[in-house]
Amino acid sequence: MAKKNTRIVAIANEKGGVGKTATVVNLSAALSIEGQKVLVIDMDPQHNTTNGLGIDATDDSISIYDLITNGGEYKTHDAICQTKWEKLDLIPSHIDLSGAEIELVDEEGRENRLKEVIAQVADKYDVIIMDTPPSLSLLTINVFAAASEVVVPCQTHPYAYKALEDLFDTIEDIKEDINPDIMISGIIPTFFDQRTKISREILERLQTDDRYKDLLFDTPIRANTTITASSDKGKPVVFYRKSSYGANDYMALAREFIG
Ligand SMILES: Nc1ncnc2c1ncn2[C@@H]1O[C@H](COP(=O)(O)OP(=O)(O)O)[C@@H](O)[C@H]1O
Ligand SMILES: [Mg+2]
Repeated sequence: MAKKNTRIVAIANEKGGVGKTATVVNLSAALSIEGQKVLVIDMDPQHNTTNGLGIDATDDSISIYDLITNGGEYKTHDAICQTKWEKLDLIPSHIDLSGAEIELVDEEGRENRLKEVIAQVADKYDVIIMDTPPSLSLLTINVFAAASEVVVPCQTHPYAYKALEDLFDTIEDIKEDINPDIMISGIIPTFFDQRTKISREILERLQTDDRYKDLLFDTPIRANTTITASSDKGKPVVFYRKSSYGANDYMALAREFIG
């Protein structure tokens, strides 16, 4: 168990393309700039987070796949990569992770593999942030079993707003069946565009909805193409272009997250 109060955070939303990976990469980097020691765990077989932090997911280094499938053969410590940036470490994903669900199907305690992996190193970090694939697979269940909190990126778009209900239901089920300590600690409005009416409207609905308003971060992440450009370069936007909206928003979000 973690000796200090390490925050173990799932970034989750069953919808794809809502800014989960962008949030994992950029919130983590922003937190490291704020002095937090951060470990990122990429639990998406598509490994965009791994690439976004400048690490090659196709090389032979030990990945989260090896840690969760090879019962104890690898130590967590051996899979941790140091990124180019101080205080920002990563356990990379690998495309093979997409087969982990089938490989683990008969294994006892398969939902708790990631939790055991994290327990070995949690006391070395202030925050552990996990990316999730856009579906409720065994991989996502492992993330929820390990997490102390869930942060939900929500696109300021009608479909995304409606889909929030499903995520809240899922977390209730997880709380009952798998992890009684889990809670949703925040909702981040993403892809916010002040110029479009629908974006402003959805933000306002989030701000006034009794289910969500107390969880909402004050910082919406604005739609900003520099975020995509930076991920293509394998750099968090806070290091790639400090003056961009994306960098400013994620720095503000990080300060809110800590405070
Ligand atoms: N705030 C933003 N503004 C503009 N583009 C963004 C923003 N956040 C993410 N993107 C881009 O949108 C796409 C989907 O985002 P991503 O973080 O991969 O979503 P998810 O992980 O939820 O599927 C990516 O190409 C990403 O670079
Ligand atoms: Mg993603």
